[in-house]
Amino acid sequence: MSLIITGGAGFIGSKLARCFLEQGHHVLALDNLCRGQREYIETLPYQERLTFVQADASDAAALLEVCAQYHARHPVSALWHLAANSDIPAGIAEAAVDLRDTFMTTYAVLEAMKKLGIKKLAFASSSAVYGDHGPDVILREDMGPLLPISNYGAMKLASEALISAAAESFLAKAWIFRFPNVVGVPATHGVILDFIRKLKENPDRLEVLGNGTQQKAYLHVDELVEAMLFIAGRDNGKCSLYNIGPDDSGCRVADIASAVVKRVSPEAQILLGREGRGWVGDVPKFRYCVDKAASLGWKPRLSSLMAVSRAVEEIAKQEEIPSC
Ligand SMILES: NC(=O)c1ccc[n+]([C@@H]2O[C@H](COP(=O)([O-])OP(=O)(O)OC[C@H]3O[C@@H](n4cnc5c(N)ncnc54)[C@H](O)[C@@H]3O)[C@@H](O)[C@H]2O)c1
Repeated sequence: MSLIITGGAGFIGSKLARCFLEQGHHVLALDNLCRGQREYIETLPYQERLTFVQADASDAAALLEVCAQYHARHPVSALWHLAANSDIPAGIAEAAVDLRDTFMTTYAVLEAMKKLGIKKLAFASSSAVYGDHGPDVILREDMGPLLPISNYGAMKLASEALISAAAESFLAKAWIFRFPNVVGVPATHGVILDFIRKLKENPDRLEVLGNGTQQKAYLHVDELVEAMLFIAGRDNGKCSLYNIGPDDSGCRVADIASAVVKRVSPEAQILLGREGRGWVGDVPKFRYCVDKAASLGWKPRLSSLMAVSRAVEEIAKQEEIPSC
C-alpha cells in the first residue's frame, strides 16, 4: 500500500510513518517543517520506501501537485491528515495561524483527494473540539452542541464538519480520531518538553503555568498509533468518530512537574501559578469516554500517569542529546 501523511515530520506523524514503513508500505511524508524536523524523517528505517517533501499543506495548488506526482508513481490508498498548528496559545494570539494550518490544510487535503480520487481519509482531531464542560462531564463522541474555547479547537471542529460533508459526496471512508494529550518522543511541544527546557535554562526553579490542579488525559504516542491502526482496520462506518485515550481521570500538572523535577533537577523548587488554567483556551480538566474504541476491542495498557512517567524519561533523554 502507499499512504500520504501530512505533518509527517512532526511528533505523531513521524511515528505513524515509522509504523507504516515497518509494515512494508510506501509513504509520502509532507511537512512544511514549521515545527517538524527533517531529522525525524531521515532517521526512519526503510528510506527506500519513504518520500519526504517539504511543502505547505494549506496551499491547495502546491499540495495537489505534490500528491498528484506521488499518486502517479505509487497509487495512494489513504491519506492521513496530521498537519496542523500544535501551539494553542499561538493560535489564540493570532487566529490566522489556526485558520491556515489547522483548517485550510484540511480544505486543501480534501480538494486534492477529490481531484485525485483518493477515497480514504484519517484525521487527527482533538479533545479541544469539545470546549470546557467542567470536570464532572465525561466527554462522549455523540455529545453536543460542541463549543470550543480555542481557535485551534474551533478549526479542528470546522475540519471535522468539512470531512463529514466530503464523506457524503466523494470520500468512501473517513476516520476522525479525537486525541487527548499525547506524550512521547520525538517531542516537538507539550508540557513535559516545556518543563524540561525551563529547567535546563534555570535548574533551580520551575514555574508552572496555572496552579497545577489542571487534570487531563495523557496517552503515550505508541499507544495512539496502535489505536488508530486498530480502529481503521475494524471500523466499517462511512464517517466515524472516536475518542482515543486512557480510561482514567487523567494526571495533574503538579504531578507532571514533580516527575520532571525528580528526573531532571531534583533540587529545583516548583512555583505554582494562581489561575486554575494554564492559558486562555486551556481546558483545565476533562475526562474522556473511551467505550466506543473499547467496543471494537482496543484498550490502552498505560494509565495517564504511566504514560507521563514513560514520556518524562524519554524526553529527558532526547533533550540530553546535543542537537547538531
Ligand atoms: N500531541 C498532542 O497532544 C495532540 C493532541 C490532539 C491532537 N493532536 C493533533 O495531532 C496532529 C499531530 O500533532 P503533533 O503533536 O505531532 O504536533 P507536531 O507539531 O509535531 O506535528 C504537526 C506537523 O504539522 C506540520 N505543519 C503545520 N502546519 C503545516 C502546513 N501548513 N503545511 C505542512 N505541514 C504543516 C508541522 O511542521 C508539524 O511537523 C495535529 O493535527 C495535532 O493537532 C495532537
